[in-house]
Amino acid sequence: MPLTPQLAEKIRRMPKAELHLHIEGTLEPELIFALAERNGVALPYPSVEALRRAYAFHDLQSFLDIYYAGASVLLTEEDFYDMTRAYIAHAVADHVRHAEIFFDPQTHTARGVPLEIVMAGMERALAEAEIKLGFSSRLILCFLRHLPEEDALATLDAALPYFRSLPHRLIGVGLDSSELGHPPAKFARVFERCRALGLRIVAHAGEEGPPEYIHEALDILRVERIDHGVRAIEDEALLDRLARERIALTVCPLSNTRLKVFDDMADHTLGALLDRGLAVTINSDDPAYFGGYVNANYLAAFESLDLTAQDAYTLARNSFEASFIDDRAKRALIGELDRFWQAS
Ligand code: ADE
Ligand code: ZN
Repeated sequence: MPLTPQLAEKIRRMPKAELHLHIEGTLEPELIFALAERNGVALPYPSVEALRRAYAFHDLQSFLDIYYAGASVLLTEEDFYDMTRAYIAHAVADHVRHAEIFFDPQTHTARGVPLEIVMAGMERALAEAEIKLGFSSRLILCFLRHLPEEDALATLDAALPYFRSLPHRLIGVGLDSSELGHPPAKFARVFERCRALGLRIVAHAGEEGPPEYIHEALDILRVERIDHGVRAIEDEALLDRLARERIALTVCPLSNTRLKVFDDMADHTLGALLDRGLAVTINSDDPAYFGGYVNANYLAAFESLDLTAQDAYTLARNSFEASFIDDRAKRALIGELDRFWQAS
């Protein structure tokens, strides 16, 4: 069934949560150039257009190389504040009520930018948005999996003061960057420490990596959600387990097609995963690099796949159910979603 203008409008306007969003992946080329100029950083591209033209990726690594280069313009608290504010404006426009936002501290501390600057800039923007816009948010610190586990352990140590002083914001840890060759088991010790600290746990798994990495994320890291997870479709027993245990997948359709996980959106397995009873959610991953924010991801999936209004409701409901907010806040947001669908 083709996506009708009425359903497209409902999807745009329905309240939703975003659970898979890298804040460094929201740096639009215009902001990269503005921050480079403000900070006197030389960029290897002559113009915004030339930089945008470089966003032609053939796999995850070809994207990550450009993504880390883009993040090199972030130096001051103001830079992290401006980046976070710009994302919030996009999210609010897309009717995102709650976001759980990833950040990569090692990308910044390795360049000599103190964690204090990173945290202060993001927290100022998020606290302001909470008060002025009612925009709810949490932060999830991601370890870079291409680096040794010792680096992740040191990063956790450095972040302990923020887990203590910002418990309402900084709530958990994740695992991202180059997946192939860096299985979850490589990070068993650091995640064990995180669990002992009572932190929420997620990890990227089954984006490019095999279903075995999803098993490891569940069994060794003991994740509560799987980021991407689309390769679960290759493993029947895993699908049964994900459905039975209600382990949510934070799926990112435009990311998956831009990084050639699927050649075409029509090949995306999101619909099949939903039909199999999995708690699928739709998210934008790195919207500045992949062609759009969360609503663009919903609409791209609905344009190419055989999805219904009931699926739209289920996807948004899953996004609230799978979030790490408390039950009362969850019920309030799901109530808002229900009223939205009943009103039309
Ligand atoms: N870092 C930013 N986006 C990512 C993705 N899609 N996979 C792994 N690491 C990432
Ligand atoms: Zn991601």
